[in-house]
Amino acid sequence: MKISVIGCGYLGAVHAASMAELGHEVVGIDVNPHRIDSLQRSIAPFHEPGFDALLLKNSSRLTFTTEMSAAADATVHFVAVGTPQSADGSADMTYVNSAIEGLLLYLSDGDLVVGKSTVPVGTAERLSEQVQPTGAVLMWNPEFLREGFAVEDTLSPDRLVYGVPAGDDGDSATAILDEVYSEIIAKGTPRLVMNFATAELVKVAANSFLATKISFINAMAEIADVTGANVTQLADAIGYDTRIGRRFLNAGIGFGGGCLPKDIRGFVARAEELGVGDALSFLKDVDDINVRRRTRVAEILTEELGNLAGKTIVVWGISFKPDSDDIRDSPALDIAESLARAGATVVSADPEGWKPAQARIEQSGLSDSLTTTADHRVAVAGADALVVATEWKVFQGENAETIGELMSGNLVVDGRNCLDAESWKAAGFRYRGMGRA
Ligand code: UGA
Repeated sequence: MKISVIGCGYLGAVHAASMAELGHEVVGIDVNPHRIDSLQRSIAPFHEPGFDALLLKNSSRLTFTTEMSAAADATVHFVAVGTPQSADGSADMTYVNSAIEGLLLYLSDGDLVVGKSTVPVGTAERLSEQVQPTGAVLMWNPEFLREGFAVEDTLSPDRLVYGVPAGDDGDSATAILDEVYSEIIAKGTPRLVMNFATAELVKVAANSFLATKISFINAMAEIADVTGANVTQLADAIGYDTRIGRRFLNAGIGFGGGCLPKDIRGFVARAEELGVGDALSFLKDVDDINVRRRTRVAEILTEELGNLAGKTIVVWGISFKPDSDDIRDSPALDIAESLARAGATVVSADPEGWKPAQARIEQSGLSDSLTTTADHRVAVAGADALVVATEWKVFQGENAETIGELMSGNLVVDGRNCLDAESWKAAGFRYRGMGRA
């Protein structure tokens, strides 16, 4: 099948290459010429495990361009542009609106437009009316991929969700998308067909639930801190109840990235517009708990070291999660910046995130007190304290004794509760976790 994918960020670029992997002819379209140039040369413009290999393997079926007119040859058009957070917390729909407006010129009778972006409920209904006069049909097919597992999640998703219009249009849209995903469906992947509003809500409900789960365990960490309880053991114990489950119960410095934080705020803003803001007022608490986690590290450091001015602090981690170079709303980078603002000399180390962080640090005017490196061992030389802010495997596997010999001080703050506390203590460290006194 001939497919176009509009928007080639984390979501769209991986989707385009994955559709080519399924045997389709794909054109990826994006307004960013640097990104397109890189993708056209089969070089991933961001770090995502397995993505370079996927691009290269499928290069004969994949082209990338900045020209929307290239969509004219395709019959299925995925819209995968970003919906960032506006100043008032709502989702900024500029890119979705302009993608659809641009695409309208090239749609033909019988085409299918498949929205993948995370949008406020009610968007698909509105866009469907815009698309209808061209003879094309619009459906919504939210994406649940996790960064770091994007290729795997796209090709082997937990489930497929189709939001379709009522009647024959819905049936034909379902049949076409079934054909696109035939290999995935043949593996037995559950496929759920529903109306537009439900499909749009499934996406934000899923992310809200995940965010709530993380903030719930972080609230328990706050309680654990004042009672001497251990939140990791608590999570293990409640997680054995299969109704609760252990996943996404890792307490620490909280959630970040380009999705969870902005999606819960966007959902709250939309509910308020719809006059049902009270239904989601708990998400404001979820957000507040999460924001508080970022200040907790500085509190612990101050408890242990006194005034942070003049101290040298190493932060392991810059990306918002391991196996990614994404620094959007990263708790790790936020913490490094706040320590630098408190007068500390900060070195942040991250295998991938160190590079994209440089421009942001320059912009924030902190370059004199906050530097980045890819080498987490070199970074610790002479440091008073070490903070672990992103749980990269390479950090977790580090030898505590070797690190202890390189540092001046002996304080480690485990912001992700990911180190083996006993071995760090045995190596002479004062170990402070999050909610495990
Ligand atoms: C999230 C969802 O998990 C995906 O299903 C969804 O498709 C995606 O957003 C999206 O909307 O596009 P992602 O942002 O890649 O995926 O990251 P997650 O794995 O959800 O992690 C989010 C944050 O939560 C990270 O900062 C992570 O460190 C933190 N986290 C996660 C915790 O603090 N504790 C946990 O137990 C789990």
